[in-house]
Amino acid sequence: MSLGERSCYCGEVRESHLNQRLILKGWVRRRRDLGSLVFVDLRDRTGFVQLVFSEDRDAATFLAAKELRPEFVIAVEGVVKLRGEKDANVHLATGAVEVEVAQMDVLCEAATPPFPIEDDALVSEEMRLKYRYLDLRRPFQNQRIVARHRLMQRARKQLSSEGFLEIETPFLGKSTPEGARDFLVPSRLRAGTFYALPQSPQLFKQLCMVAGFDRYFQVVRCFRDEDLRADRQLEFTQIDIEMSFPDEEMVMGVAERLTRALFEEAGLTAPASFARLTWAEAMERYGCDKPDTRFGLELGTVSEVAAKTEFGVFRSALDAQGAVRGLAVPGQANISRKELDALNEVVKPFGGKGVVSLMRRNGALAGQALKHIGEGPAAAMLAAVGAKDGDLGLFVAAPYETACACLSALRLYFRDKLGLVDKDHHALLWVHRFPMFEWSRDDNRWVARHHPFTMPREEHLDMLESDPQKVEAQAYDLVMDGNEIGGGSLRIHSGKIQRKVFRALGFSDEEAQDKFGFLLEAFKYGTPPHGGIAFGLDRLAMLLLGCESIRDVIAFPKTTSGLCLMTQSPSEVEPKQLEELAIEIKKSPPRSHDPKEGN
Ligand code: AMO
Repeated sequence: MSLGERSCYCGEVRESHLNQRLILKGWVRRRRDLGSLVFVDLRDRTGFVQLVFSEDRDAATFLAAKELRPEFVIAVEGVVKLRGEKDANVHLATGAVEVEVAQMDVLCEAATPPFPIEDDALVSEEMRLKYRYLDLRRPFQNQRIVARHRLMQRARKQLSSEGFLEIETPFLGKSTPEGARDFLVPSRLRAGTFYALPQSPQLFKQLCMVAGFDRYFQVVRCFRDEDLRADRQLEFTQIDIEMSFPDEEMVMGVAERLTRALFEEAGLTAPASFARLTWAEAMERYGCDKPDTRFGLELGTVSEVAAKTEFGVFRSALDAQGAVRGLAVPGQANISRKELDALNEVVKPFGGKGVVSLMRRNGALAGQALKHIGEGPAAAMLAAVGAKDGDLGLFVAAPYETACACLSALRLYFRDKLGLVDKDHHALLWVHRFPMFEWSRDDNRWVARHHPFTMPREEHLDMLESDPQKVEAQAYDLVMDGNEIGGGSLRIHSGKIQRKVFRALGFSDEEAQDKFGFLLEAFKYGTPPHGGIAFGLDRLAMLLLGCESIRDVIAFPKTTSGLCLMTQSPSEVEPKQLEELAIEIKKSPPRSHDPKEGN
């Protein structure tokens, strides 16, 4: 007969339960057999408690205890007793007590797990993901998911308390351009047509404003078919927010109060204030639009001095309207030649061709390119980036944004190498006044930096057609410790302006009507000014919980190549399924015969 409902969780048993009869359920963590006594640690999501099986009590139960193996699932009934003074474990919440078991049910036996269910077990990432349910059973990983739950609930509570309504929007939607590639879902009922999974609920939340809900939020899954990194997944969760009749300050206020609440929930203290930088300032000082402001190493521009030299690297960049920018790394004048070479590799992924280094050692200038640059300009360049005796000056000559990106990468390289930040200290920063557009070399047209529904600054509306690169958006990103944790904007709520922006983006009126006709139609019937923001919950949770990867705070994440190692997805489907969807798979062309492979 089953023992009935559990009295409490294993990790909750305390001295206050002394002499009480409890029913507990969980997994065997470990068993120690001392002959006439068997000790078992019983674990669940809250921790573990020590069980004692003794020969003096029920003989069958005692014998069954001797057969227990790690990860067996059991239910026990027993009485809580104080452990002897020398047996008490002060490091454990349940360490003062143990449960003398009178009865036990073995609910499920277990095979030996592929790795021990312990925090300190050394397990490869691949094994962790393949057996994720076992990895999640490990206390530290389990606690991360519990902490994420708390953050989600706190976000819901905070936003509800400010009058936001949680409204669900469809997952099966229309493919619209919003930066990344869409995941497409073929329709069976209308073969040959496709739904797209939402990259974000952007248009639906705007339509919620047209519908008069005034304040909307959603903790919502978004899907983007983009290349993965440590802070990106193909599917991720946003805390998505939209409000009517706001100005930028009002949206930022909502976001700041939410951020503070989430810091508190994570047991952290948010910085006293949220700093603000315009996009242009962020690029100028840090070389990127999501700077880590917890340390210095700020950038400088030395184009003017560089222009006075005959150095070919500088000349060719400047002749092509580029810039020479640099930064000073304190105390690194004696950096090895090998490491200087390695810096070239740091900038390569950002389009940099190389790094020019200059330094002053005991008053004397040095650096491989010194002979080309000349002592006078070299001294001026070092002074311009604030490099003193003993410091290293690093310079990149390239188009402005490429030079910025390369130096930003070098800045972060030295942050990590020199341990320049205290991991317990956090910085929160708004970056605003983004350019509305950026030039896409791939598409040979302007594309929206945020998205096409962002309101340009009113005084810039006239430049939409004549000077799109000068138009600034009423957009803002929230940055934590060098990570973009949220982004939003005020939106266009007039069909006329929206059409102008579509035109600036190179859409013909017909294309705009085809893709966004429903939005333009909605704008006809009384649309309140509106705006909002979306937080990346996974990224935020990763940072608040001090994790290295977004995967650590996702119960069932994908690998960096987009695979689920546990279910082996993506996978092929049955021919019948394809037939129903009228889909034919193009077979990859047969490989040409390689004589080395034999027949
Ligand atoms: P945006 O594209 O800036 O804005 O996304 C908002 C936030 O979502 C997080 N994020 C991601 N997290 C994990 N994996 C990804 N692949 C990923 N992509 C984005 C980031 C980012 O700041 N509709 C707009 C919001 C708005 O304007 O209100 C949007 O989606 O933390």
